[in-house]
Amino acid sequence: MKFFVDTAEIDQIKELNDLGMVDGVTTNPSLIMKSGRDIIEVTKEICSIVSGPVSAEVTATDAETMIAEGRKLVKIADNITVKVPLTWDGLKACKTLSGEGHMVNVTLCFSTNQAILAAKAGATFISPFVGRLDDINLDGMDLIEDIRMVYDNYGFETQVLAASIRTTNHITDCARVGADVITAPPAVIKSMINHPLTDKGLAAFLEDIKKTGQKIL
Ligand code: G3P
Repeated sequence: MKFFVDTAEIDQIKELNDLGMVDGVTTNPSLIMKSGRDIIEVTKEICSIVSGPVSAEVTATDAETMIAEGRKLVKIADNITVKVPLTWDGLKACKTLSGEGHMVNVTLCFSTNQAILAAKAGATFISPFVGRLDDINLDGMDLIEDIRMVYDNYGFETQVLAASIRTTNHITDCARVGADVITAPPAVIKSMINHPLTDKGLAAFLEDIKKTGQKIL
């Protein structure tokens, strides 16, 4: 299972990357806004830190401009993945850009049918949004499971990139149903380590070794 971090915050990317936890990065216009940085500059800096795919999202809504934006974005670095929305224009841009050999991430996926269309348009990644489906009382994980099954049925090579991951349980469930990639905010990835029995057990071990008066160094 690959871990992408869903952020444009350089320090947080570096911290997780140094731990070997970053297989790629995803950004979107909201995350760029949050960073307060210029999209080209911050994306270039991310690509200099991370060797895996770095998704940068187009801002146009018509295919022609999306393609032009995509061609500009891929010049930033070899690991740029152009992110396009799941619209007919987005799929047209996906077909053209993937045909030119570029990685494409089709985002804002909320149904299995949309995922089928993206795969047929040559998407490298499909991004179904788990949390936003949960927000409206649907089951986001059902969608991940369904897309996995359908892609496997037909041998589609598009990777299932579970997005809008909000909890550690989302990550466990994605691993169970076979998502290829999860993209999550750094805080969610970092909280995967938490367990009260680990803390309790460590405190007891430290207390006991202290009682012996022994030290290794
Ligand atoms: O990359 C897009 C996705 O991860 C957004 O997540 O929490 O804003 O629904 P969220």
